[in-house]
Parts: sequence; structure tokens; C-alpha cells
Amino acid sequence: MAILVAGGAGYIGSHTCVELLNRGYEVVVVDNLYNSSEVALERVQKITGKTLKFYKGDILNREDLEPIFENEKIETVINFAGLKAVGESVEKPWEYYHNNITGTLILCDVMRKHGCKNIIFSSSATVYGDPAEIPITENCPKGEITNPYGQTKGMLEQILTDLHVGDPEWNVMLLRYFNPIGAHESGIIGEDPKGIPNNLVPYIAQVAVGKLDCLGVFGDDYNTHDGTGVRDYIHVVDLAVGHVKAVEKLETKEGKGVHIYNLGTGTGYSVLDVVKAYEKACGKEIPYQIKPRRAGDIAACFCDATKAKEELGWVAERGIDEMCADSWRWQSQNPDGYADAQ
Ligand code: NAD
Ligand code: UFG
Repeated sequence: MAILVAGGAGYIGSHTCVELLNRGYEVVVVDNLYNSSEVALERVQKITGKTLKFYKGDILNREDLEPIFENEKIETVINFAGLKAVGESVEKPWEYYHNNITGTLILCDVMRKHGCKNIIFSSSATVYGDPAEIPITENCPKGEITNPYGQTKGMLEQILTDLHVGDPEWNVMLLRYFNPIGAHESGIIGEDPKGIPNNLVPYIAQVAVGKLDCLGVFGDDYNTHDGTGVRDYIHVVDLAVGHVKAVEKLETKEGKGVHIYNLGTGTGYSVLDVVKAYEKACGKEIPYQIKPRRAGDIAACFCDATKAKEELGWVAERGIDEMCADSWRWQSQNPDGYADAQ
């Protein structure tokens, strides 16, 4: 039996493939390579010494998906495939709703046609909006979502939940990620954003390696310990292990039905805390300038990860120093990401 990893060539997907292969799972990847490189999958195999099967294909295309379900014995699908840039989603809402929502609907339709009704879905802390309580538990109500990207996450959570209501054979894990950063300790796979990074750590990494001059810190007047935004940064390898735990849980009686888990460390760090940790990791000063607040940002967002600990037996083990050290190893060894290898 195999796990189909949709979007498996991407940042979180590639790290998850490593952890699945390390635990002996058969892994099949489908990815259209819109935001990723096949080199990542070669390196996944190099790290693990194991092979996976890759189908270049789009989850929007049934004809790309059918052969996978015909040729492979897929038991569970992990769906990472999606567009994820918050700002871009405001400019291109149609593209985001179509790719993320239509894509997942088609994937689920092909799945059920082939009798595969186990899905693990990449959701996000963004569904909490400006959270009603901190630390955020899974019981915290969903908040007002301010961009189409976040809306696709909220809507897909509902759609997948409704699939189970209509057909209880569907088993659904909704994993709400906090802020994944870092890279595999080998330094050969990592995050490879196109263009100027939108997210904090990829931006800092490019300042550290000399590709960008100065970090803009978006606001220093929030109600946090130093005035800058606080987030729950989680090492991408811990996040990947969380997916393996979710797969294992799906295989048990208690894992049936719909389950929601926060995947974060439970600790919040400010923008300036992260700058300091990164400076320690790379041994250089990171120049920064305070800028106005970024539209849509909130002051603080970190989770209570107790439910994942109790029900999945999962805890994030890697701290902020390890996250920054691993990010720096990847960035310094691959300043142009996977393009360095091509
Ligand atoms: P990523 O862009 O690196 O990976 C997504 C992968 O999906 C890419 O390889 C891309 O080529 C592929 N893809 C996109 N549309 C596709 C389609 N229609 N058919 C086939 N493949 C397609 O992003 P990531 O950071 O690894 O994120 C993975 C998932 O986790 C996404 O759904 C994202 O929204 C979600 N998520 C990410 C974060 C984060 O901060 N990185 C936080 C919360 C949730
Ligand atoms: N920040 C800066 N300068 C930058 C980039 C970010 O100061 O150049 C600040 C932000 O204002 C925020 C913090 O760094 O306070 C983190 O910002 P990110 O853009 O790295 O992350 P967000 O928390 O805004 O959002 C991320 C993903 C979303 C996801 C959310 C929760 O981009 O898709 O985490 O998982 F929904």
C-alpha cells in the first residue's frame, strides 16, 4: 500500500517524503512542478537511500490522476498541492480558488472512484484569523479570513468535513500548520521561493547570503514583548514527522472520521527574536529597518499543541536555533535554491 503525496516536490512535501520513506512507507508523488523542482525528489532519494515514484501531473486534470490510481495501490493521500502566496491571492483570486479548491475536488473525486477515502490536508493557522484566544487550541472558533488563499483553506476544511458527513467512509485529517521554517539537516533540500520572498525566514536567509540588502520589519508597535509580530515557528522536519503520525493515526480505529490538529511548537518568537537567532546561526549581522505594519498581519499567533501530543503522540522537538542553523546550511550551500543543481 502506498501514500500519494500531492505537491510532494514542494517545500513541506519533499521533507514529508523523506520521513515517510525513512519509516518504510511506499511513496508516490504527483506534482505539476509549478513551484518546485524534480531535483528536490532526486535529493529526497539521496537522503533516504530509497526510491519513490514520481508522476508529473496536475491535480486539476483527471487524466493525470487516473493512471496513478490505476497503477498504484494508494491507501492514503496527503494533499500539499496548492498555491500559497497570501498577497498574490488577493491579485489573482480566481487562480487561487480554482487551483486549490477545484484541484482538491477533482483529486477527491478520483480518489473515491478508486475506493481511496483517506485524506490528510494541509491547512493553516490562518483559519483562526485574529485568534479569539492565545495559545490557540483547535476549539478556538475560526476567525475572519482576510485573503483568498486563507479562504481556500477554510472552505476546503468545510468541504472535506462535509464529504465525511455525506459518506462516513471518508477519513479526514485537517492539519493546521503554524509557521514552517528550516530545512533538512543534510542541507540539500529546503525552501526555494521564486522571486523576492514574502515570508520572514526566507527573506532573512537571502539577506544573510547577500542576495538582499536589508530586512524590512513590518511594525514595531504591536502589543508583544518587543513590539514586533510573534509567531509559532516550527521546524519543517518536525512538521513532516507530524504527517507520518497522522498517517499512522488514520490506520487505527480512533483515527477514523474527521480530526483537526494544530501543528506548532506552542512557543512564540518575535521578528527580532528570529533575527537574533539567525545572526547566531550564520555568524553575520542581519541589517534591518522598521517599516509600517503589513496589511492583514496580526500581533501574535501561537498554538496549544496538546491535542497533537495526546492523540498523535507528536511533539515538535527542534528549537529556534536548530531551525535557523538548518535554514542557513541550506541557503548557504544552495544560494539559488535548486537552480544551482540545474
Ligand atoms: P510549495 O509551493 O513548496 O508546495 C506546493 C507544491 O504543490 C508545489 O510543488 C507545487 O508545484 C505543487 N502544486 C501546486 N498546484 C498544483 C496542482 N494543481 N497540481 C499539482 N501540483 C501542484 O508549498 P509548501 O510550503 O510546501 O506548502 C504545502 C502546503 O501547505 C500548501 O497547501 C500550503 O498552502 C500549505 N501551508 C503552507 C504553509 C507555509 O508557510 N509554507 C503554512 C500553512 C499551510
Ligand atoms: N515579517 C517581516 N518582514 C518580512 C516578512 C515578514 O517583518 O519581510 C513579519 C510579519 O509581519 C510577521 C512575521 O514576520 O509578523 C511572520 O511573517 P510571515 O510572512 O513569515 O508569516 P505569516 O505568519 O504572515 O504567514 C505564514 C504563511 C501563511 C500561513 C501562516 C500561518 O505565509 O500562509 O503563516 O501558518 F497562513
